[in-house]
Amino acid sequence: MERERKGLSLVLIPSPLQGHIAPLLELANILYCSGFSIIISHTLFNSPNPSAYPHFTFVPFSDELSQSEASTSDPLHLTNLINLRCAHPLSRCLSHLLSDPSLDPIACLISDAALHFTRSVCDSLHLPRLVLRTGGASSFLVFSLFPLLRSRGYLPIEESRGEEAVAELPPLKVKDLPKIETKDPEAFYEFVCRMVDELKLSSGVIWNTFEELESYALEKLTLEFSIPIYPIGPFHKHLTSGSLASTALMTPDESCIPWLDTQEPNSVVYVSFGSIAAITQTQLVEMAWGLANSKQAFLWVLRPGLVPGSQWLEPLPDGFIESLGGRGHVVKWAPQGQVLSHPAVGAFWTHNGWNSTLESVCEGVPMICMPCFADQKVNAKYVSDVWKVGIQLPNELQRGEVEQAIQRIMVEDEGKAIRERALQLKEKADLCLQQGGSSRRSLDRLITHIFSSRRQTHPSEKRE
Ligand code: UDX
Repeated sequence: MERERKGLSLVLIPSPLQGHIAPLLELANILYCSGFSIIISHTLFNSPNPSAYPHFTFVPFSDELSQSEASTSDPLHLTNLINLRCAHPLSRCLSHLLSDPSLDPIACLISDAALHFTRSVCDSLHLPRLVLRTGGASSFLVFSLFPLLRSRGYLPIEESRGEEAVAELPPLKVKDLPKIETKDPEAFYEFVCRMVDELKLSSGVIWNTFEELESYALEKLTLEFSIPIYPIGPFHKHLTSGSLASTALMTPDESCIPWLDTQEPNSVVYVSFGSIAAITQTQLVEMAWGLANSKQAFLWVLRPGLVPGSQWLEPLPDGFIESLGGRGHVVKWAPQGQVLSHPAVGAFWTHNGWNSTLESVCEGVPMICMPCFADQKVNAKYVSDVWKVGIQLPNELQRGEVEQAIQRIMVEDEGKAIRERALQLKEKADLCLQQGGSSRRSLDRLITHIFSSRRQTHPSEKRE
């Protein structure tokens, strides 16, 4: 179907991490299909592959990162460097774009919330700025309350108080509050507060979630922030697979699909910890023994570097792969969308990055949660205690715990009830995208917002 062109361009700026680039490009596709021209302005580090999106214009700006800075395994440090150094390069890049007559006039910029430096750049160019928050609304509500949580003594987190309830944020306990492994914990607190403050100064926030999933947090945030909020997710379900290009920075190993085809329905545990989480050698060995002893079939994404410094399979116990007799399949990176929608997959053992959590919800796949850092702990708590579509494993795994969890979710009555709830939630995810559904209505509101608040060309500017 021919799309109706709106005669306006949108500039979108991704944070250069897999879990952030993918939803931003999906959003770009949704807005392209709604008639806007799309410009992706991006860092040189982890730049997206333009050939997968011939219908977008890609414009890099210098990120001023040295090779050693770009190779850091600390995503917070990397994001802070970009926020510190990119204002001038982006400003130059946008000035060129704003005066380029070959482009449809630019209505606004849509920035990943983590790139808070874009606020001052947009202000100086009189460019309206919308923010995309790629994580969930419930975790963002927690972020927005960081100063309160600190004043009440919950932050910084004391391990010994982990089981204490956070009265202001039921059902969270202190151990569920976002935390990040970094040399400078104060830097995380400061980053979160800055991200929230700069987000409040935007003209609106787009969320990759849907009202029926996170109504409580969305209502609270609407009350607290005096800007409009647009929950239009799940992004990846808006478009038919034919109109979706791959958003992956890594090449998926397709061999797992024919392998899944040989497995019984709901019989396989899919295990993946996303693109940046790291685990210790001890955790990996316990995971391996647990999977082996569960006697359940499994597909395991063992990303190189999942155990820091590892090339691939070397942290596994000797003889592990050979001992499986075909019951397990290990890959470096999987086509996760296809895997989760495969009838053979019965559970997802996940670190609860927001994308993985939402993708699992959308396919009705029960989760075994093992969150590692930041928003993942909040997401996991919602999965297990609010939506009740999964169970949690502790991070310090003891021998026997993994088999038990797999048994609970794959075999026992508890697992059957969880699966039923997961399928009900999937239905809600399907409905919100249908004509008249909550996310469709939010998208219509967003398009109206973009039109009504679009940038007006300043009298002193010439589009040459
Ligand atoms: C990061 C943060 O860790 C997370 O907390 C935050 O919510 C988003 O940014 P990441 O750790 O990569 O993301 O996890 P997640 O949000 O789950 O995103 C991973 C993405 O990679 C998913 O879209 C998933 O489908 C994809 N993926 C993962 C694959 O396509 N193949 C794989 O093998 C593994």
